[in-house]
Amino acid sequence: MVLIHQIGVRFPVGLPIMTDKHTPTILIILGITGDLTAKKIAPALFNLYLKNALPEKFRIVGFGRKPFDDKSIQSFVSEMIRAKIQNADLKRVEEFSKLFSYQHGLFESKESYEALKELLDKIQEPWQAKTNRLFYLAVPPDVYQSIFEQLKFSGLSDRPENTDVETRILVEKPFGKNSETAEKLDSLLGNLFAENKIYRIDHYLAKEMVQNILTFRFSNDIFEKTWNKDFIEKIEIRLWETLGVEHRGSFYDGVGALRDVGQNHLLQMLAFITMNYPLDFQASALHLRRAQLLNNLKLLTQEEIKSQTYRAQYEGYQTIAFVPPNSNTETYFKIKGTLTDPRWKDVPVIFESGKRMHEQRKEIIVTYAHPKECFCPPGGIHYKNKITFSLEPTEGIAIEFWSKKPGLTLVKESRTIDFILRDSAQRVQYVEEYEKLLLDCIVGDQTLFVSTAEVKAMWAFIDPIMTAWGQNLVPLKKYTPDTNQAILDSLEVG
Ligand code: BG6
Repeated sequence: MVLIHQIGVRFPVGLPIMTDKHTPTILIILGITGDLTAKKIAPALFNLYLKNALPEKFRIVGFGRKPFDDKSIQSFVSEMIRAKIQNADLKRVEEFSKLFSYQHGLFESKESYEALKELLDKIQEPWQAKTNRLFYLAVPPDVYQSIFEQLKFSGLSDRPENTDVETRILVEKPFGKNSETAEKLDSLLGNLFAENKIYRIDHYLAKEMVQNILTFRFSNDIFEKTWNKDFIEKIEIRLWETLGVEHRGSFYDGVGALRDVGQNHLLQMLAFITMNYPLDFQASALHLRRAQLLNNLKLLTQEEIKSQTYRAQYEGYQTIAFVPPNSNTETYFKIKGTLTDPRWKDVPVIFESGKRMHEQRKEIIVTYAHPKECFCPPGGIHYKNKITFSLEPTEGIAIEFWSKKPGLTLVKESRTIDFILRDSAQRVQYVEEYEKLLLDCIVGDQTLFVSTAEVKAMWAFIDPIMTAWGQNLVPLKKYTPDTNQAILDSLEVG
């Protein structure tokens, strides 16, 4: 039986989460000993295990260079879980770690994949049933090509003629470095797997508040009729982090803020906020709507890039390990974009993100235009309503409106109607999102994954900006970490 796991029916009142427990599944983590497993995959799987949400027949096979065996990977996993989840029930951790096996191997070695194939067949054999094999690429993108080639040669990739196995692949961001590399990657992947077997991860799609945008818009009729350029004056999408680049210098310096969070998380948030009502809430309809919207982003000309974008780097960034002392990588950016479709034409969309900011704030603010007929003093153009979708520091939605202050005179004051889903300090970074993503891949629901058309549209918008920045058409400014200097300095952008 497939599942309640579609947006719109994901949280039906009173129904427990169900999974397709009848399809045995093997999750193969390529590069299991890296950071990704420790921070995201293992804790998320452990939580799914505790919730009894994994298939009954479920095993995890780690593949990697380190000389582990089954026993040592199991203790490695127990340690990871204990480090990440405080007060974890040790007995359950031990049980969970027993789901793991290990295949030692090199990503470019044919023999290693043959050995992996044997191991998978051995695990599957007693089940005597069709098994889903999910390959998770938890490795840096420069290893992808070798892995794809070896998956193909070994016959481990998509094999539609083999009715005993269904193969899916999970790929992390960054998906390429620009349109060209993303396309190359896509064609490599496309040779091995059909599009409906490729799960491109953007964990923002699995965030409670991002999903809540669709419910807010499409399950209520109060705002949707005014959700367009005739009423809305501006959309701001913001991701300020107090954390810096810290130990991620070697990864981050080749990427920068715009590629790290702009090309994916911020643009996806825009898609959720502005896309048209989908034909239904299945993956393909949502992918289509998101891609249509992203294709409507007006590509900035060189002149517009000069006046509508701003980039900066925090002081001290260049002293981080593996960051060159003359690095030109931005850790903060602000971009003013617009959409071309009639519904949103010319409404400014401000994208902004930075590391080492003075506060942690992740939000989307939709500002309504000043009402045409306004019960406000002449020139009172600040009488505007705002809707804020907040992801951090709290998760919730707030609506700002104007109200009469109690008293003998007519004084108006700004008030807020809000609902707080929860304090986001309660969440452990990434874990909740990865629970959803892993579960969705297990049950074969691509709704919360990014389609190839979306990837293409997002790079098309980002590429000209990265190129112009690379040519230094927009100077890289500096800002003092832990202050709001970059925000003040970039005010002229929007
Ligand atoms: C990741 C970026 O994709 O998203 C990080 O690589 C960033 O640099 C993170 O910190 C933000 O995610 P979240 O879930 O903490 O908002």
